[in-house]
Amino acid sequence: MTVCVRFRAIPVFALALLGFVTTHAAADDENRMTGEGPGAFIVEDGKVDPNTYEGYLVYTRACMACHGPDGMGSSFAPNLIRVVERRGWENFAGTIAAGREVQPGQVMPSFADDPYVMGNIPNLYSYMRARGEGGLGRGRPRIIESMQEQDEEKDEAAEEASAED
Ligand code: HEC
Repeated sequence: MTVCVRFRAIPVFALALLGFVTTHAAADDENRMTGEGPGAFIVEDGKVDPNTYEGYLVYTRACMACHGPDGMGSSFAPNLIRVVERRGWENFAGTIAAGREVQPGQVMPSFADDPYVMGNIPNLYSYMRARGEGGLGRGRPRIIESMQEQDEEKDEAAEEASAED
């Protein structure tokens, strides 16, 4: 199966796809959990890095209607926190791109034609890992203060670029 995923040019994910990076999470100290490999994340005092935050936003917009609030599953679609723990990166990315229907009528749509979702698969994965391994709680997380400024600069740059159109 060939999966064409447009990543946001993050070299570490390209490496991970080639299998050079192994996935694991570690408690750096009491209040900080980090995960390496595909879907890298930081959870610190209940706050997260900007990519994981982005993953939360994308999840809420594109997945929550079926998979339930905060990744927890619904009567219709499975809990994605558990899925990610059991099945890993390739299955996750592949299913989002290709869709799936194991039981007739229970359809996981393909997002291959949705650049917003396709470009955010690593961030979605970060959010799911943060919820599972990282122990991140429910609801909208906040961004770690020291990482916030760089994200706001990025937003401003994007706004300026779109204002020029
Ligand atoms: C229209 C409803 C719907 C939407 C929207 C949806 N899903 Fe699904 N998803 C499903 C259903 C139903 C299944 C179970 C399919 C099956 O196993 O037959 C599923 C399965 C999956 C699986 C595979 C689970 C496994 O057991 O391996 C992944 C991964 C997944 N979805 C991720 C996502 C992500 C990420 C999004 C948002 C970008 C999303 N889904 C949006 C309905 C949906």
